[in-house]
Amino acid sequence: MDSAADAANDTALDAAVRLLEAGELVAIPTETVYGLAADAANDAAVRRIYAVKGRPASHPVIVHLHRQADPLRWASALPRTARTLIDAFWPGPLTLVLPRRPGVAQACAAGQDTIALRCPAHPLTQALLARFRAGQGGLAAPSANRFGRISPTCANDVRAELGDAVALVLDGGPCSVGIESTIVDCSSGDPRILRPGGLGATELAEVLRCDPGLLQRATGAAAPRVPGALAAHYAPRTALSLRAADAIDADWAHAHRVGVLAPRAAPAANPAAHWLQLPGDAAGYARTLYAALRALDARALDSIWVEQPPSGAAWDAVRDRLRRAAHGAGR
Ligand code: TXA
Ligand code: MG
Repeated sequence: MDSAADAANDTALDAAVRLLEAGELVAIPTETVYGLAADAANDAAVRRIYAVKGRPASHPVIVHLHRQADPLRWASALPRTARTLIDAFWPGPLTLVLPRRPGVAQACAAGQDTIALRCPAHPLTQALLARFRAGQGGLAAPSANRFGRISPTCANDVRAELGDAVALVLDGGPCSVGIESTIVDCSSGDPRILRPGGLGATELAEVLRCDPGLLQRATGAAAPRVPGALAAHYAPRTALSLRAADAIDADWAHAHRVGVLAPRAAPAANPAAHWLQLPGDAAGYARTLYAALRALDARALDSIWVEQPPSGAAWDAVRDRLRRAAHGAGR
């Protein structure tokens, strides 16, 4: 980065710290998606996040930490599995749900006796966390979208979602992962994935020396609430359906006011419809998916067809988000 960019970042970081310490909201870049941040120790500031997002008060938010911060300021215990995962994957797209220190971050926890902690890898947000409360503070940050909608993966998409409701958007460029972090519940018993995300079950299982199936077992009734797990979430306004490649091909010639997302080129020209080609690898596809959905949504089409993604484990998080997007779309 050149020195002019450094100076601009420096000024923006100072402004962000001042705003956060004054209880204001700042949008921050992470490697997964942009977050809408507030001082996690300031309950009034955290409640403003809920108001801006239109998020139900019962849905807890993740607390973001500097890489040298002590998770035990927030968690009452770090089980061995949590330590192993932290050593292997922080900073990175992994959120851990842990038993919460009594009395800490009440508004973030939304009534749970657990707390979700994450150490984001984005350098600008790490620099922000280093300056914020001398590196020991926490930033409460859900994704910077209105409740139920598509998470923003660049600064412009944050502005389009939230407008003047956020005091400052720290621009860290486009997100490199593009979908939200993987959430692992380490608060009791064997760890379990609550939300698939940027880090795959295979990688987690390898480090924990367990079967990926154990991490992916079904959520029981006593499990903590994960609104990201609501059936309708991450949704565009345009009706969206997941369709097989041959069904799309059969209908494409007659498609009208339709947008298609597929990891391949259009089979033929069709000026009445709109085809967006995404990368064919899971990581590349995830990185570009939300921006592509937003681009098609902005065209006010009648429907979006998304080609059914491949079935491999690498595509777990993408399939999860598309299923939910299809469920919640068109509302
Ligand atoms: O990648 C990400 O995780 C992004 C970036 C900004 O860090 N954040 C994000 O936050 O996706 P949000 O609020 O959109 O989703 C956080 C999820 C929610 O499903 C929430 O219910 C869950 O984390 N969560 C938070 N605290 C929890 C807790 N104590 N127990 C169980 N789930 C929790
Ligand atoms: Mg979200």
